[in-house]
Amino acid sequence: MTITSNRVAVLHGVNFDILERRDPAVYGGLSLGELEQRISAWARELGLEAIFFQTNHEGEFVEFLHRLPDLADSAIVNAGAWSHYSRAIADALDVARLPAVEVHLSDVENRDDWRRQSVFDGLVAAKISGKGPDGYREALELLARELGPHT
Ligand code: DQA
Repeated sequence: MTITSNRVAVLHGVNFDILERRDPAVYGGLSLGELEQRISAWARELGLEAIFFQTNHEGEFVEFLHRLPDLADSAIVNAGAWSHYSRAIADALDVARLPAVEVHLSDVENRDDWRRQSVFDGLVAAKISGKGPDGYREALELLARELGPHT
């Protein structure tokens, strides 16, 4: 029997397809592809398998969350600006009922007031922000502990 409880879905929302064009002082200047490569390597080190999804369309994000329980065992969610106002995405994550961590590259607690609010409060095991790409490594470590050993 194959044990498949190590799949982590890494979901990126609106404007992450152009990550390398966003303010490098805030987002670090790397592309989504480069970020995903780092996440993949960290996941492998932890015995996890990362699968990736990005869209600029809220409904597509919601529909991916509907399919999430068939595709993965846990999730890392960086929904970009949607994190601050999309109750539809929060409801869909709630339905998925998977261990999830919210990650933001930038320090959302110390930018604009509206970025402090998150629709994922109470739905995620942790919210990690302001640590750049390393925040994803922290999220993976947290989920690895949650999912048990897979070496
Ligand atoms: C972000 C923070 C959000 O406030 C912003 O809208 C983004 C990126 C981050 O990773 O820092 O698009 O989620």
